[in-house]
Amino acid sequence: MGRLDGKLALVTGAGRGIGRGIALELAREGAQVVVNDLGAEDCEKTAEAVRALKADAYTAPANVSRFDEVDRMVEHIEKMFGPVSILVNNAGINRDRRLVKMSEAEWDEVIAVDLKSQFNTLRALAPRMVERGYGRIVNVSSMSWQGNFGQANYAAAKAGVIGLTKTACRELAASGITVNAICPGFIDTEMTRSVPEKVWDIMVKKIPAGRVGTPEDVGRVVAFLASDDAAYVNGEVINISGGMVL
Ligand SMILES: NC(=O)c1ccc[n+]([C@@H]2O[C@H](COP(=O)([O-])OP(=O)(O)OC[C@H]3O[C@@H](n4cnc5c(N)ncnc54)[C@H](O)[C@@H]3O)[C@@H](O)[C@H]2O)c1
Repeated sequence: MGRLDGKLALVTGAGRGIGRGIALELAREGAQVVVNDLGAEDCEKTAEAVRALKADAYTAPANVSRFDEVDRMVEHIEKMFGPVSILVNNAGINRDRRLVKMSEAEWDEVIAVDLKSQFNTLRALAPRMVERGYGRIVNVSSMSWQGNFGQANYAAAKAGVIGLTKTACRELAASGITVNAICPGFIDTEMTRSVPEKVWDIMVKKIPAGRVGTPEDVGRVVAFLASDDAAYVNGEVINISGGMVL
């Protein structure tokens, strides 16, 4: 018996990294998982790993920054696989550059993928959850929402995620829906592997736990927030950082 038995979860950007870790932890708790990412092949890799845990997995490739594409994806998922009870808005990118050098495209792309995508999925799924009187939504922000050198676009998007989360909580809580945000600290994924070695070492020194986080560290917290154990946790912002402060 798992805490998420019989629940269908949609995890965006779950082809690798934190999203994959979340998909696996939700599956370990008994959820069926719909894996979203840009490409079908990446979705399938995570779906295979979920199935290896003896859980059901489906794939739904789509670019979540596009409103219409998300609408069609949600329609397809619910028609083919059933009602989605758990939504994890994880897809994200970074395009780091100092503000004085940042291009309009770098700004627009990050706002679209890291912030607008979360409006898109909420807009498509929240009315369905309201009708059913149940939902668990976890939005992935970042500790960078407080401001971080070279991340004006990313910090603005991730701060926006917190405003979106707290507003959605106020509007949806009465319908049996929780909406919480998580702020991972420094987690070992391809996104962080792209930082120069010197920056990596500086970051690790800032972590009281003495190690970088893993996608599973994040996934276990998401599994809790997605469960009925967290039914009265709503509109919160939870750091998962090994004690790191920015
Ligand atoms: N790694 C960290 O230390 C860290 C820290 C704080 C927050 N985060 C956040 O966690 C989330 C996952 O990050 P990660 O480190 O696993 O990154 P990652 O780059 O390893 O994985 C991100 C995944 O999202 C997918 N994706 C990108 N754009 C998409 C789109 N438009 N539609 C669908 N899928 C898309 C990518 O293909 C990729 O599989 C992001 O929102 C990121 O901002 C990461």
